[in-house]
Amino acid sequence: MFTAHARSLSLKNSEKLLRRVTCKLPHVCPALTAKRLCEGPVSRRTEPGYYVTTPIFYVNAAPHLGHVHSAVLADCLHRHWALQGLHCKFATGTDEHGLKIQQAAAAAGKEPLSFCTEVSDRFKEVFRSCSVSYTDYVRTTEDRHRRAVEHFWNVLLNNGFLYKGSYEGWYSTPDESFLMPTQVTDSTDSLGREIKVSTESGHKVEWMKEDNYLFRLSDFRTKLQHWLKSNPKAIQPEKFYHLVLHWLENDLLDLSVSRQRSRLQWGIPVPGDPDQTIYVWLDALVNYLTVAGYPQAHSHWWSVVRHVVGKDILKFHAIYWPAFLLAAGLPLPQAIYVHSHWTVEGKKMSKSLGNVVDPHEISQRFTVDGLRYFLLRQGVPDTDCDYNDDKLMKLCNSELADSLGGLLNRCTAPSLNPEQTYPQFCNASFPEESEEPPGRAVSEDYEMVKAVSELPALVKKNFENLHVYKALEAISRCVRLTNGFIQRHAPWKLNCRETEDSLWHETILHVSMECLRVYGILLQPAVPELADKILSRLGVRPGERSWDHALDFLSKYRGRDCLYERRALGPDTGVLFNRLERNTPQAKPQKTGKKQKSVLQ
Ligand code: MSP
Repeated sequence: MFTAHARSLSLKNSEKLLRRVTCKLPHVCPALTAKRLCEGPVSRRTEPGYYVTTPIFYVNAAPHLGHVHSAVLADCLHRHWALQGLHCKFATGTDEHGLKIQQAAAAAGKEPLSFCTEVSDRFKEVFRSCSVSYTDYVRTTEDRHRRAVEHFWNVLLNNGFLYKGSYEGWYSTPDESFLMPTQVTDSTDSLGREIKVSTESGHKVEWMKEDNYLFRLSDFRTKLQHWLKSNPKAIQPEKFYHLVLHWLENDLLDLSVSRQRSRLQWGIPVPGDPDQTIYVWLDALVNYLTVAGYPQAHSHWWSVVRHVVGKDILKFHAIYWPAFLLAAGLPLPQAIYVHSHWTVEGKKMSKSLGNVVDPHEISQRFTVDGLRYFLLRQGVPDTDCDYNDDKLMKLCNSELADSLGGLLNRCTAPSLNPEQTYPQFCNASFPEESEEPPGRAVSEDYEMVKAVSELPALVKKNFENLHVYKALEAISRCVRLTNGFIQRHAPWKLNCRETEDSLWHETILHVSMECLRVYGILLQPAVPELADKILSRLGVRPGERSWDHALDFLSKYRGRDCLYERRALGPDTGVLFNRLERNTPQAKPQKTGKKQKSVLQ
């Protein structure tokens, strides 16, 4: 369907277009939390660790649960790496150009830019309410971004990968995507008229015929295959890696990368050709470079970039984007992390179905940590997940309120811990497993200690392939083991007037608190507020909450000193996580897509 009549542009002409640009340093989000996240140990701060990105969000729709899922996942990865003392950057933002934004602004009777600003601010607000602590927020309508896109375009042109030709084919405006005939199917609209739709998204497509610029995507199939084969971890989880390799079994067709300005005014004009507007996806993808500082010093961050994306935009990130980067002579992303979608009653969330879940409302009703925990613990990246309130309440009640909250309460309640301290560990009560005399610990206790010692490594491994849910599952399993440990030895039945019982009583609490301390540290990336509550109650200071501190588990058992022993507990700030009730007035079904008051109505 692509017919390209190459019209060569002389190198001289295109060189003239290449402008020297000055780019401001990316601004830094002033949020204290975000700042704190970037504070790794001084010795390591000069080396970049990770630069994680979310997709930038379209401003034609209000933020919903699916958007927040991408953002919370990226935020959790960022916090995880920062916890390890790595110098990290975390960018998100909004995708503001394109026909559908132009149309949405017109429908709202607004100037495009003020319309975009309004919706972009709503994304910021939702991210704030969900503890998404980005360090940079980029909007494609910013000057620094326009300069980056213009420069990038000119590099592609100078490198010979753009040519002017005529494009003829199907285009889906809601997806801002060109489609092959095999990706299009027959359907009918609401009035019963025959239309063509995208097989994947179901959105209406239109036949488009116009002169524009084409990118030589067809040159890149073998190079992309080579990249993936030599980087088997480039796309995670593995299922999506194989999917992209499968796509690459077919030839790639050259890609139209501009639209006639007469059809699309809301976008960045092609440098030197004001009759053309740069294709919104090329414009949008460059945001990742903009934040890295491109075209000025950017290699520092660009060498460690990792993208988090939903499965619907995998083709753009795993085929188009690497091809653009190769054409521009830039390194490819270290990893692309892909997640699946949230559905409601098995259906894709959409405004027209009125089943859009509002993350702001959910975080208010079920707390920020309740929402984050549910998204991360239940959101399996390989398959779609269905959202419903009951599932969220059940999960949070069982794992956060009962299990984790119960454990904290048992260790710190004045009835069991009247002195309100981090109690002493007694080696005679809990000696090394093989030691004689045997002490009072039993084989299950040693298994628990082994499981908790191995937990940080297991969590780290699961984060590496985006199986955050498995990391949280592993933590939850250990919490159950620790509750079992307390239950088994029932410290409330011990007679603390007897020295041996008293030492064993303290040891049970010490071991349980050590476990909790590790869980608190490891849970910080997923549920920061809840983790802070655990650690503060245990008396663990802010400088004692790093990954390395989690590795230093039960040091007394291993014959080393313990930092926390005998220390006073922190203040009691109440229940760790209040049980969520089904019939409270706030817990009614939420279908907010039609109700939101905004320019988007
Ligand atoms: N603007 C493009 C991305 C450009 S990146 C250079 C875009 N925007 S989007 O707003 O439509 O989607 C942003 C993210 O939200 C994507 O990762 C997408 O997968 C995610 N989600 C949108 N709906 C979703 C669900 N129902 N469930 C989970 N995530 C989903 O695409």
